[in-house]
Amino acid sequence: MKQVDVVVIGAGAAGLMCAAQAGKRGRSVLVVDHGKKPGRKILISGGGRCNFTNYDVTAANFVCQNPHFAKSALAQYTHWDFISLVAEHGIDFEERDHGQLFCLDSAKDIVSLLLKECDQPTIEQRYRCDVHDIEKTETGFVLTLDTETVSCQSLVVATGGLSMPKLGATPFGYQIAEQFGLKRVPTRAGLVPFTLHNNDKEAFADLSGIAVPVTIESEDGTRFKENLLFTHRGLSGPVVLQISSYWTPGQRVTVDLLPDNPLFDTLAAMADKHPGQSLKNSLSRLLPKRFIEALIERGDITDKPLKQFNQKELQALSDYFHNWTIAPNGTEGYRTAEVTLGGVDTDELSSKTMETKSVPGLYFVGEVMDVSGWLGGYNFQWAWSSGWVAGQNV
Ligand code: FDA
Repeated sequence: MKQVDVVVIGAGAAGLMCAAQAGKRGRSVLVVDHGKKPGRKILISGGGRCNFTNYDVTAANFVCQNPHFAKSALAQYTHWDFISLVAEHGIDFEERDHGQLFCLDSAKDIVSLLLKECDQPTIEQRYRCDVHDIEKTETGFVLTLDTETVSCQSLVVATGGLSMPKLGATPFGYQIAEQFGLKRVPTRAGLVPFTLHNNDKEAFADLSGIAVPVTIESEDGTRFKENLLFTHRGLSGPVVLQISSYWTPGQRVTVDLLPDNPLFDTLAAMADKHPGQSLKNSLSRLLPKRFIEALIERGDITDKPLKQFNQKELQALSDYFHNWTIAPNGTEGYRTAEVTLGGVDTDELSSKTMETKSVPGLYFVGEVMDVSGWLGGYNFQWAWSSGWVAGQNV
C-alpha cells in the first residue's frame, strides 16, 4: 500500500494551495482529482482573467452562519500575502472597480503559479482518478483509488461546491462529511442570476442587454450598488448576483432605480420648466426609454403631461422608482451560479486550522464548507486563506 503524509482530494484553488504549503513543510502529499486537469474553474473565472483577490477583504464580505469563522484564516494568510505571491511570480495584474484584482493577461497565469508552487519532489498529482472508498484507521485514513490503496495521516477535502457541474463539480465533499457524521448547512446556488415570473418576464423580454445603475436591497437589509442587467431569462448583472446570496425563494428584492437622483424634486423641476412634456419623455431622460415604455404598457405608471400630475402623484411616482420591488421566480441554479452557499457546517471545524473537531486528521478547505464570498475575488481569497492554514497544519 502506498503511504503518504497527506492526501488532498481536489486540485482546485484551495487544494493546490494546501498541497504547496504542506510540501514546503516537508510533508509528502498526493493530490487526487477526478478531472483531467487542475484548476478548471480558475481558468474560466473572471472572464478568463481570474479575479484572484480584492484590495479590501474582511469577514464581512462572506456569507456564513458563523460571521466570525473566516476571520482567523483571513488574518493568517491575507490578500496582501497572495498579492505578493502573484508579484513574485511576475504576473501582471490590474485593479478594477471595488478593489477587484484581475490578471492582465490570462487566468492561466494563476494556475501556472499554483503548479509551480506544487512543483516539489514530495508532491504527486494524479488526474482522472476517482476515490472509491475512505476508511478511518487509528493513525489516519486509507483511501481506495482506481488502481491502488493509499494510507495517509491527514486527509484534506477540497472538492469545491456544486456550481457548474460540467466543470467537474460533485457533492463528494458533502458525502465525506456525511460519512463522518458532520453537520451540513443546506446548499443552494449563490452569485446567480434571477429568473422572473411569466408576467414580469414577458413585460421585460425586449429589454435584454439593457443595464441600469441601481441600489438593490434584500429583505434582511443587505444592500449593493452596481449595475442591474435585464436578460432574456430575467435579471442579472453584479448587483443581482450579489443580492442572490442573501435571497431565499418567496422573498422580494427592492431596487432603487435612481439611487443618485431625488426623483420627486427632479420631476417637480421638469414640470415647472416643461409643463407640457409627457412623463414618458421626462423619465426617458433618466432611465432607458424601453424600460419606461414597458412600465407604461403594463400599467405600472400612467403617461400624461407633467402639468397634470399633482404633488401626491409625483410623490407616488418617486416612491415607485426609488422602491421598485420585484419577486424573483427563482434563480438560474447551479448551471450558472458562481458559488454554492451552505456546505459543511463551520461549527464542525477549527477556524484556525480547518481540521474537523471530531475527526482528527480530517480537514475541509475552500468552497465545500459553509463560507461563500461576495463577487469580487473573495471566493478565491477564501480558497487561498483556508488552503494555506490547512497546509500549515496537516
Ligand atoms: P474548486 O471548484 O476550484 O475545485 C474543486 C476541485 O475538486 C475540482 O478540481 C474538481 O474537479 C475536484 N473534484 C470535485 N469532485 C471530486 C471528486 N469526487 N473526486 C475528485 N476530485 C473532485 N471566484 C473569485 O474569487 N473570482 C472570480 O473571478 C471567480 N469567477 C468565477 C467564475 C465562474 C464561472 C465560477 C463557476 C466561479 C467563479 N468563482 C470566482 C468562484 C471560484 O471559482 C470558487 O469559489 C473556487 O474555485 C473554489 O475553490 P475550491 O478549491 O474550493 O473548489
